[in-house]
Amino acid sequence: GAPVEVDISKLEKGQLLTVEWQGKPVWIFRRSEETIQTLVSLDEKLVDPHSEMASQQPSYCQNEARSIRDELMVLVGICTHLGCSPTYRPELAPEDLGKDWKGGFFCPCHGSKYDLAGRVFQNMPAPKNMLVPPYHFEGDNVVIVG
Ligand code: FES
Repeated sequence: GAPVEVDISKLEKGQLLTVEWQGKPVWIFRRSEETIQTLVSLDEKLVDPHSEMASQQPSYCQNEARSIRDELMVLVGICTHLGCSPTYRPELAPEDLGKDWKGGFFCPCHGSKYDLAGRVFQNMPAPKNMLVPPYHFEGDNVVIVG
């Protein structure tokens, strides 16, 4: 499929937009400083905190934030269990995760939870972090997915 060009100049902190790439939903969202700083505090609760499963992101996104620029996240919005699309829950605290929940994604199908880097929590049906697609920037405000 052709690459998809996305203008992110109007994307506010906390805001998420969805584009379609190769027939799949791709999420682009802008994270706050606070969100970025909480990522490391979640590591011990996650299946693959350091993104060691090479299939789940390009090598240039194999870092704590799973991104090229910390503030901007690009993810294929499909649960790695059976393929539902998780919902964006940047603030809400699902009760069973209590204080560990710093915002993320919740899959309505079987309850898998992911953080704001698309990293899956332990003891969930989903086995892997959500996929980061190949992408790059053109200037400050354009992302090319694919
Ligand atoms: Fe997401 Fe099963 S498809 S938890």
